[in-house]
Amino acid sequence: MSETASISLNGKSYELPVITGTENEQGIDISKLRDVSGAITVDPGYKNTGATKSAITFLDGEVGILRYRGYPIEQLAEQSTFLEVAYLLIYGELPSSETLLDFRKKISRHTLIHEDMKKFFDGFPSKSHPMGQLSCLVGALSAFYPESLNPNPSEEEENLTIIKLLAKMPTIVSWIYKKSLGHPVIYPRNELNYVHNFLNMTFGQITEDISIDKSIVSAMHKLLILHADHEQNCSTSTVRIVGSSNANLYASISAGISALWGPLHGGANQAVIEMLENIKNDGGNSAKWLAKAKDKNDPFRLMGFGHRVYKNFDPRAKIIKEACDEVLEKLGINDPVLNIAKELEEAALKDQYFVDRKLYPNVDFYSGIIYRALGFPTDMFTVLFALGRLPGWIAQWKEMKANKEPIGRPRQIYTGSTTRDYVPLDQR
Ligand code: CMC
Repeated sequence: MSETASISLNGKSYELPVITGTENEQGIDISKLRDVSGAITVDPGYKNTGATKSAITFLDGEVGILRYRGYPIEQLAEQSTFLEVAYLLIYGELPSSETLLDFRKKISRHTLIHEDMKKFFDGFPSKSHPMGQLSCLVGALSAFYPESLNPNPSEEEENLTIIKLLAKMPTIVSWIYKKSLGHPVIYPRNELNYVHNFLNMTFGQITEDISIDKSIVSAMHKLLILHADHEQNCSTSTVRIVGSSNANLYASISAGISALWGPLHGGANQAVIEMLENIKNDGGNSAKWLAKAKDKNDPFRLMGFGHRVYKNFDPRAKIIKEACDEVLEKLGINDPVLNIAKELEEAALKDQYFVDRKLYPNVDFYSGIIYRALGFPTDMFTVLFALGRLPGWIAQWKEMKANKEPIGRPRQIYTGSTTRDYVPLDQR
């Protein structure tokens, strides 16, 4: 007999079904609770709420496991490529070499963006944040591809929208960077692979050809793979909930980009480097900053530390820390903030406050140091996170549609005033 959970309310008892996932995690199905009892559940920040059943990413935060479609993140980061992982996330299986070639070819046909989109850049203030621009430009793709507005496309039409977005995102991201410098944009080169082409459009010059070191391309693949999906986090939940209203893919991803921007989420990678720079400029006293992070009267938090789900270690952080050492050594860079980061990590891991709260370095703690070594300015870091997360967002949006999930619409417990009569202005 299948397991149930009972709940007693106002002297009545209700039996609720229990759902078990393929990794044996359990959830109490409360979808009928309000119908039968009149009550709802309350869970600020959805800390205990499963919003969906998903077959994309498995994450066990207690032991530090992350798998995409069953494949361990460590194996994918070491052996795969970003585009292959994108295919895996979106379509569910690793592609054959023929399928991968076809996928690459289709993407390379759509890497150009409409020339009229360049006019947007004239309108943005020159120092405006790249994430604001990215969210705007991705949302604007819906204006150039109005067929994406159809909420019931054929499989072929939906795939074309997905391919277009994957293809145009690196072009948009690199052009945001070029425009911030006041440099002419570099057009996509279809003979280069997805990541190499992105780096070429970002760091290439119209005046001369550049060669990008293999180790840089490979570090970038790794970083993007590590960011490619992370189940029902803030931005992904945003993508699914916006998409659940039948909003088009571009609008849904644009909303996800906005959610990612916050410093508690993807914006942490920028915040970490700014924090490490501050600590360096303040004399490099990590103990002082750790004390600030522990002081409940001080809003300062140790950026790049802690995670809603990981309570042991973040497997992505482990891989990134090693990659960081490799990249800096390869490029012969001695970044003083790396030593501060290592000192802070060591001190925090021994500190009772961080031990008690199970706070460990997360994916963003070391990623900024690599991005900086590769030549990206700080305010581009979160945009790179978005570039990596794109296939995950698309996969989650596609799954939500395939599952025919209902529109996301949580309830609330009302705590405002009870009914009262309107008082005319002259009597107040
Ligand atoms: N520095 C100091 N104290 C912290 C930190 C931190 N970075 N993170 C959590 N705490 C404390 C928090 O004050 C609370 O203490 P107490 O129980 O005494 O009130 C306790 O730890 C639990 O924290 P919480 O805020 O209730 O935990 P949460 O699950 O709601 O938040 C988090 C998770 C990631 C938002 C939080 O750890 C944080 O703000 N970290 C810094 C920002 C950061 O690095 N974000 C990137 C996350 S990984 C990238 C991504 O996927 O988004």
